[in-house]
Amino acid sequence: MQEFSGRTAVITGAASGIGLGMARSFAKRGMQLVLADLNEELLQAAEQEFLDAGVEVVSQICDASKLDHVERLANTAMDRFGGVHVVCSNAGVGIPTSARNVKLSDWEWIINVDLWGPIYAVKTFLPLIEAQGEGHINATSSMAGLISSQMMGAYNVAKHGVVALMAATERELRAKQSNVRASVLCPGPINTNISRHSVDYRPGRGKPKNDNEKAGKLAGNIQSALEQGMHPDEVGELVASAIEEEKFWILTHPRWAKAVQKQLDAMVDEQTLTRA
Ligand SMILES: NC(=O)c1ccc[n+]([C@@H]2O[C@H](COP(=O)([O-])OP(=O)(O)OC[C@H]3O[C@@H](n4cnc5c(N)ncnc54)[C@H](O)[C@@H]3O)[C@@H](O)[C@H]2O)c1
Repeated sequence: MQEFSGRTAVITGAASGIGLGMARSFAKRGMQLVLADLNEELLQAAEQEFLDAGVEVVSQICDASKLDHVERLANTAMDRFGGVHVVCSNAGVGIPTSARNVKLSDWEWIINVDLWGPIYAVKTFLPLIEAQGEGHINATSSMAGLISSQMMGAYNVAKHGVVALMAATERELRAKQSNVRASVLCPGPINTNISRHSVDYRPGRGKPKNDNEKAGKLAGNIQSALEQGMHPDEVGELVASAIEEEKFWILTHPRWAKAVQKQLDAMVDEQTLTRA
């Protein structure tokens, strides 16, 4: 998509971190904003930031894992701005736990937010964008959508699903020679409050118990990697540029994707997960 100015962006998980970074980069390009999040306090603060900057903005409490909330969000965008040009299904949560020990309630919560959220976004918004004949739909996956690492059981599953969803969507759009594009954001470590927010929103609240010392250490390493991660505003800029340039893969740490190549080599040469 080449023209941003005067057009409308809808972002879920927009009140914090990467979603807020995307909203800032779209606002800089003259877009109107529809901000959606679960967290009322953070959402109000985000809306105020844009109002103060003279940006046309509307915000809505929305649980991205509920279809009726996502449909209401689309109605708000259409009623207020008469169109939707960029949609970023970005709301997400994650807690470090091993695949075999994730509680069922955590599986359901993570899959509902991280995978059903993007599915509902595609289902609800893609027909609106296609009816306009032009626009872009993006969803936030992760490097965990490309490689399943230890200690991120349910998160890996959801984020792999997001990559599959957006890749199929992009192929189908290209096959019918649509001007609409799809893309997937696969961040490496980004300095956001995802860990704290996820603990707050987790069913029953609280940190998961780590099954052993090694698992606890890995969870700690994930947290310190995030704290040293990229600034979320930088990610917002990468997303806006990728939409301009019609890229599909949006990688914040492209060198890390070499792990994908290594996994493919091991698969082709030895049919093992990693080389012996
Ligand atoms: N931070 C990282 O290192 C990193 C790496 C890879 C992928 N991601 C992904 O980036 C996305 C954004 O996360 P972030 O790091 O900016 O975290 P964040 O916690 O700063 O922002 C996420 C936002 O989503 C909101 N949210 C949570 N559940 C929601 C729901 N059900 N409905 C609506 N809003 C909800 C939160 O209130 C929060 O404002 C997520 O999908 C996450 O999985 C983050």
